[in-house]
Amino acid sequence: MIKAVIFDLDGVIVSTDDCHYCAWKKMADEEGVYFDRKINNRLRGVSRMASLDIVLERAEKEYSESEKQALAERKNNYYKDLICELTPNDILPGALKVLENLKENGIKIAIGSSSKNTPIILKQIGLDNFFDAVSDGNNITHSKPNPEVFLKAAEMLKIAPLDCMIVEDADAGIEAGKRAGMKTLSVQGAKGADYEMHSLEDIDFFNRLLKQIA
Ligand code: BG6
Ligand code: MG
Repeated sequence: MIKAVIFDLDGVIVSTDDCHYCAWKKMADEEGVYFDRKINNRLRGVSRMASLDIVLERAEKEYSESEKQALAERKNNYYKDLICELTPNDILPGALKVLENLKENGIKIAIGSSSKNTPIILKQIGLDNFFDAVSDGNNITHSKPNPEVFLKAAEMLKIAPLDCMIVEDADAGIEAGKRAGMKTLSVQGAKGADYEMHSLEDIDFFNRLLKQIA
């Protein structure tokens, strides 16, 4: 039976894809490194430093560790300038309804995100203090597809992984959920999940799914 649903943040609850894209693009352009939206799609669910390595695959020079740290910090500053403009209107269609519905039905809700900016984003969209647990890039050492972020969320909730379902928009996140021993639901076409829906807008589908799993 599903006792908790753990949501990825970026691309599931709020669309930050464009903010990540613009911030990486600005940094890459300044460095003369080719970057496009197709490469940006590969960064979904991937930690900041691992994302930087992907961005630098097209670089013509080698960067030292300290230079990489500086690049990641520069990108993050551009990103923070953009996410401070987010508002509750940026919550993705259907997400709030799904979350409220779960709460009403006594099912715990948590965040399981690779992002270290999770607290800022949740505050901007008015969902800080809304979840039963928040596990994010600040309390993990291994990023998705490692299951750590989801296992920590389950631990915070005191619910067995088997009784949890994760919702993800990234292939790496689905793999992490499976490795955590949780049920997996994909949105936005992430591959390899137990269940799939296009977006959280179809609340009836979501509710039927929960009943079906129970
Ligand atoms: C994930 C995003 O949620 O967080 C990735 O899908 C991002 O694109 C990762 O790289 C890390 O984010 P941040 O905010 O810590 O740089
Ligand atoms: Mg995501």
